[in-house]
Amino acid sequence: MRDQQDSADLLEWYDRHARAMPWRVGPAARAAGTSPDPYQVWLSEIMLQQTTVAAVKDYFERFTARWPTVQDLANAADEDVMAEWAGLGYYARARNLLKCARVVANEMQGHFPADYDDLLTLPGVGPYTAGAVSAIAFDRPSTVVDGNVERVMARMFDVHTPLPAAKPELTKHAAALTPIKRPGDYAQAVMDLGATICTPRNPACGICPWRAPCKARELGTASDLPKKTPKKPKPIRFGVVYIAKRVDGAYLLERRPDSGLLGGMLGWPGSEWLEEAAPAHKAPIRAEWKTLNGEARHTFTHFHLRLTVKTALVPMDRQPHGSFFVESETFTPNDLPTAMRKAFALVPDR
Ligand code: ADE
Repeated sequence: MRDQQDSADLLEWYDRHARAMPWRVGPAARAAGTSPDPYQVWLSEIMLQQTTVAAVKDYFERFTARWPTVQDLANAADEDVMAEWAGLGYYARARNLLKCARVVANEMQGHFPADYDDLLTLPGVGPYTAGAVSAIAFDRPSTVVDGNVERVMARMFDVHTPLPAAKPELTKHAAALTPIKRPGDYAQAVMDLGATICTPRNPACGICPWRAPCKARELGTASDLPKKTPKKPKPIRFGVVYIAKRVDGAYLLERRPDSGLLGGMLGWPGSEWLEEAAPAHKAPIRAEWKTLNGEARHTFTHFHLRLTVKTALVPMDRQPHGSFFVESETFTPNDLPTAMRKAFALVPDR
């Protein structure tokens, strides 16, 4: 009973305060009978993993303008999708996105399944995305637990077990609160509450629709929760990249192998990235290489990267190995992942 009252209170708050998002069918439109497009819900949820709403908006608009349906995306060339994804990070997501689009288009007549377990069978779709798509796109009462929901539940029930160990307990609480009516709105309401009211620092408890039932508010523990098991510090890896410009303005690039970091993306040829300060490397083309001052720094999930950048101007007739020239008219730095863009940004006369 209590749970149902809490869910109803949150939905009432959501009716007034739902954030507008390009992929979202807001509570009023949903009540009037508009259903979200499962393709858009799936695409946005994949993009939003590890990435903020603000960072995703432009990417989402570009993807849906270029590929309005899952069939369109399934028919896209791999390199076009990787180029549109460039800058969003976690590139395995983009490769799985394409795989998933092709499964849905070719084996499911272009229809995403509504059922949580069926969604879980799709490439790149884990418990979070399966829950989000079945709840948001199909209004099924699936439990959706992202970082925001974990924080809200840890506070609501004053859970002091540190994350990630606390996840099953927090998921149980989230499931108990999920209503049978309007589960899609409810899933988004908890996430919005976490993003706007129940924020990591200085939560706005005074205006929270759950201020009455919240245990952490009662006990004054909200700002200490959720507890987290400390992460190991990230090691530093070093690498070298070679930026060769041909006299006609073409740049020398390589397509990185599908597996591994920045898999499937365009990049500057270079060394492996290792924890020793000067990994062995070989230039991709014969030239007079100059080492630039400074280094390009970028942080990945498990390490910090420092790239030394070498540049050269090469004549027309030299043959590269393992890489290819991209003509100046077709070269777009935005097609590169961020680490590679940072290396390019160090070049003085681009
Ligand atoms: N974060 C990830 N997906 C979201 C959604 N659908 N609504 C609000 N925040 C989100």
